[in-house]
Order: sequence, then C-alpha cells, then structure tokens
Amino acid sequence: METLEYTEAVAEATDPIYEKVKQSIPRFEWELAAPLIVEINRLKKIRNAVILGHNYMVPEIFHGISDFKGDSLGLAREARDTDADVIVFCGVHFMAETAKILNPERTVLIPDPEAGCSLSESITVEDVRLLKERHPGVPVVTYMNTPAAIKAESDICCTSANAKAVVESLGSETVIFLPDEYLARNVAKETDVRVLTWHGTCMVHERFTVEEIRAYRAQYPGIEVIAHPECSPEVCEEVDFVGSTTGMIGYLDSARGDRVIMITECSMSDNVEEAHPELEFIKPCAICPHMKKITLEKTLASLKELKYEVEVPEEVRVRALRAVERMLEVGRG
Ligand code: 13P
Ligand code: SF4
Repeated sequence: METLEYTEAVAEATDPIYEKVKQSIPRFEWELAAPLIVEINRLKKIRNAVILGHNYMVPEIFHGISDFKGDSLGLAREARDTDADVIVFCGVHFMAETAKILNPERTVLIPDPEAGCSLSESITVEDVRLLKERHPGVPVVTYMNTPAAIKAESDICCTSANAKAVVESLGSETVIFLPDEYLARNVAKETDVRVLTWHGTCMVHERFTVEEIRAYRAQYPGIEVIAHPECSPEVCEEVDFVGSTTGMIGYLDSARGDRVIMITECSMSDNVEEAHPELEFIKPCAICPHMKKITLEKTLASLKELKYEVEVPEEVRVRALRAVERMLEVGRG
C-alpha cells in the first residue's frame, strides 16, 4: 500500500528537488509536499503520463513533478509532440484545451476544471461574430488565452511570445486582435499594422501601475525591471524588457544589474531564483487565483482517478486547430 509519509526513502528521492526550492518553501511544508511528489511521479510512470507545468505553477509543482515547463507556446508544442497516453496539464483550462486541440488521441487532464482565466472569460462567440460582421475581411488574431470556441472563429492564434510576428505574418493592413487590450496595444506600438482591440484584461497584470514601477526604481537604484506584455502599455514603457514568461526567464541570463523584479505572477521568481544565485529577486505579490487552483493534492487525485478530462467537440476542435497550427508555423517569430 502506498504511504504518504515523509520517510527516509521519500527524503532521499526528493532532497535534490528541495535544493531547488528551499528559498521559497520552509522545511516543514516540504515534508508535507515531498511524499505527494514521490507518489505523483510513481503514478505518472504507471499511467504513461506526462505533466506539463506552466511557469506560474508553485515551485513544488514546477520543480517537483513537471516533465516539461514553459510558457503557453512551449507547452503547446510539447503537448502536440508527446506520445504519452495521458497529458496532465498543470496550468489553466485554455492551455489544457489547446493540448486537446493539438493531440486529440491523448487523454488530457486538468487537476481543477475551475482553473480559468479572466481573459478567456472576457469575450463570447457572439462578440467575435459581430466584430467580423462590422469589419468584413479583416483577419482575426486570437490570443491563446481563450476557449476553443473563440479560437475556432479566428484566422490565427498567438501567444505573448509571438504576437507581433503573428500580426505581421498575415500581410494585412488591419487586424482584429482579441481579447487582451493591453497586449494588443503593446503590439500596435511595435508594428505598422493597424490593430483593432477588444476590452479584455488579465486580472493579475492589469494591477501593476507606473507609480509602482517608479517606486521600485527609487527604492532599489539600478534594479532591472522586466514585465509581461499583459501589463498596460504605460507600465511596459517604464521597464527594461517585455516578454512572455519564457522570454522573461531567458532575459535573466543577460541581466545587467544584481537585482531584478519580474512584473508578473509571483511564482515566476520563486521558480527561477535557484538558477540565478547572482541575482536578488524583489518579489511583488501578484497571485493568479486560477493558476493557484492547481495543487499537488489535486494533481495526485487527477492521476489516480483520471480526472478531469478535457474534451473539445470535434467540429470546434478542427476549426480551432487551423488557427493554432497556423500560429505554430510562425513559431517564436
Ligand atoms: P505565457 O504564454 O507568457 O506563458 O503567458 C500565459 C499567461 O497566462 C500569462 O498571464
Ligand atoms: Fe489568465 Fe492572467 Fe491568470 Fe494568466 S495570469 S492565466 S492571463 S488571469
């Protein structure tokens, strides 16, 4: 029978992982997490499952159980390419749905089906159809942070890693860009293509302000500030680098100073600080309540009971697939 106690064997199996997370997880919490990690990794083999972990997962998920880690573009590629029988998506619902769109033969599971996204909820199929009617012939670029039914209405998808390249790949003077207004405006600043926007926002990134960035700079002279493009254009103007979650991680290798602040969800800094002992991370507290619905306990239940299965109606899937595949051809741009 399985044991979920912190035994010597569990300690031996998980001590190397603890080395990576000890700055953010106290020992007593780790001793609760470690047996779950061992059990998840054991079940993963039995199920022939792969765990895809988004960069915003808590460190015990990110370092402890994720076979592949990354931004939504990187994880979509991993989902497309895996031949595992089961994909457990430690991320939010639209990411798991994208995995199903790309690799329908696999069983795709999400540990909590309520892990949504404020952007995903900001637009309906009817809204998109109305926009298309109002702007006939104008191509629709849809952010990955949307449900499959919205992707199915679109010409092409994009992520924060390739939004500008996708917009420019269409050869159109004007595009409709849905649903993130800030990402759309950030792209518009960088291109000659006219970008029509919608009024969706990310509930995490919209909260950062210019005043806050200036206050960090005043408090920590020389600090490098890097941000996600779901922040407002005004905030993005104030920072040293703007990129997708994986883009931000990559940028750390060339950080000039010895202090950085990542203007994004808080787990990002926790997940990368071990790889950058030369940097001090100033951590603003910005939690995505959706990402944080994914826990070790729920991931274990997901693998045990094969829940919650993500399904996409075939008629929607094939139309959404066109838009996602077209984006994957553009790559990171
Ligand atoms: P990335 O594609 O940059 O990982 O972003 C996904 C997301 O939800 C950011 O809030
Ligand atoms: Fe959605 Fe924002 Fe959470 Fe990313 S951080 S999943 S965009 S609510």
